[in-house]
Amino acid sequence: MTKDFSTFFSNEANLRKASVMAHPAPGTISLSTGLPNPECFPLKGITLNVESPESSFQKSNEIKRNIIDNPDEIISSCQYMDSNGLKYFNEWVKNYIIDNFKPCYQNWDFIIQSGATQSLDALFRMLINPIEDTILCESLTYSCFLETCIPFKINLFSIKMDENGILPDDLNQLLTNWYNNENTKKFKFPKLLYTMPTGHNPTGITLSSERREKLLEICNTHNILIIEDDPYYHLQIDDDNSKHIPSLLKFDTEGRVIRIDSFSKMLMPGLRVSIVTCNKLFRDKLANHNELSIHSASASSQLILQMIFKDWGHDGYLKWLDHLQSIYRRRRNIMLEAFDKYLPHKLVTYNRPIHGMFIWINIKLNEFPKLPNSNYSDSEWATFIEDQIHKIASEKYKVILSKGHWFMHDKSLIQAGFRATYSYSEEDNMIKGAESFGNAINDVYSSLYSN
Ligand SMILES: Cc1ncc(COP(=O)(O)O)c(C=O)c1O
Repeated sequence: MTKDFSTFFSNEANLRKASVMAHPAPGTISLSTGLPNPECFPLKGITLNVESPESSFQKSNEIKRNIIDNPDEIISSCQYMDSNGLKYFNEWVKNYIIDNFKPCYQNWDFIIQSGATQSLDALFRMLINPIEDTILCESLTYSCFLETCIPFKINLFSIKMDENGILPDDLNQLLTNWYNNENTKKFKFPKLLYTMPTGHNPTGITLSSERREKLLEICNTHNILIIEDDPYYHLQIDDDNSKHIPSLLKFDTEGRVIRIDSFSKMLMPGLRVSIVTCNKLFRDKLANHNELSIHSASASSQLILQMIFKDWGHDGYLKWLDHLQSIYRRRRNIMLEAFDKYLPHKLVTYNRPIHGMFIWINIKLNEFPKLPNSNYSDSEWATFIEDQIHKIASEKYKVILSKGHWFMHDKSLIQAGFRATYSYSEEDNMIKGAESFGNAINDVYSSLYSN
């Protein structure tokens, strides 16, 4: 049974109504809306050059559409459209959600938007009252999520993680003791948890199925929503494609999970297309917001996706995921081998992610004790060590990794680390980069403790 989540709406969402400029129903003569006349669209056809599954994505095929043979596709991709998106693409998305995420309540729905970053902003505006509201996140979290929170002046609290991800018991304890805890009781009870359960950014960790189920139980008990931001879901590089880890949607019987999918990591970020799967109440409110902001996700991007998916077919799409996963698997292995060889194991540990694009390098702070003359607190010292390594690595060795503190909401955590990504750099640069970064760590260590 879906619950009534209307009390979660922000003041802004409560004021937001459907636009009067709704699209005319099929069969109606519209002398109303200002849609440009299709005769005025100069686009008469599209040819894409796309790698084909038959060639194991080594060669490309031409995929063509033209106005004579495919008038509907070409014209609707030029025209204003509603938030349901292009017809075939909409059907593809619906099947994609059913096949992969298996929502288990009746009236789930979805909306197509312009990338996960835009979806997150729209969700915040739908749910958050600036200054007043409280949100929970993982102790290390996506830096752009933290930056999205800033202008909303959100009260943010983080949940502890271990090497296997967010700790459901810590979440439960925080929520159970909310009004007895001196640090939390003056803030409003949290509205939602933001989490990245698969190939987490920045740590690369994937949450087990058991912890996912536990999270849902806790959020049901305490009546908070979950935003499941999952752009790395298909980079399950060590898994058999038939045995994917379940989405949180699979455990959601009430409609409290808002899942964000993105085509950025699965295909191309330049398309700017995302999918939000959620209960119908939230979907309709997001549609009202689309009408007065992005209007719809780019129709041309949707047409490109529609053409590619039609051409590949379901099997071709599955082959694409295999192909993608094999590329990232190879890259991850190269980076891990380089880390095994070049990073100083006395001073760091790192994980071996099975999903996503990231490896987390943890600095062993017990090997970097505070200097006797230092006035720093423990957390300031952790930041100092991280800053020093980053400075030497970037200035002397010309290699950059992301600083752990960029991903921390709570800067008082006594933790230092770095996010490395194996997605982008040339393969030999990953090896050189690992060697240089290892040298930078050793340099900082020697400069502090060699006398
Ligand atoms: C967790 C997470 N969410 C969202 C995004 C952004 O996705 P999009 O390109 O769809 O805006 C990223 C990209 O790095 C990400 O890591």
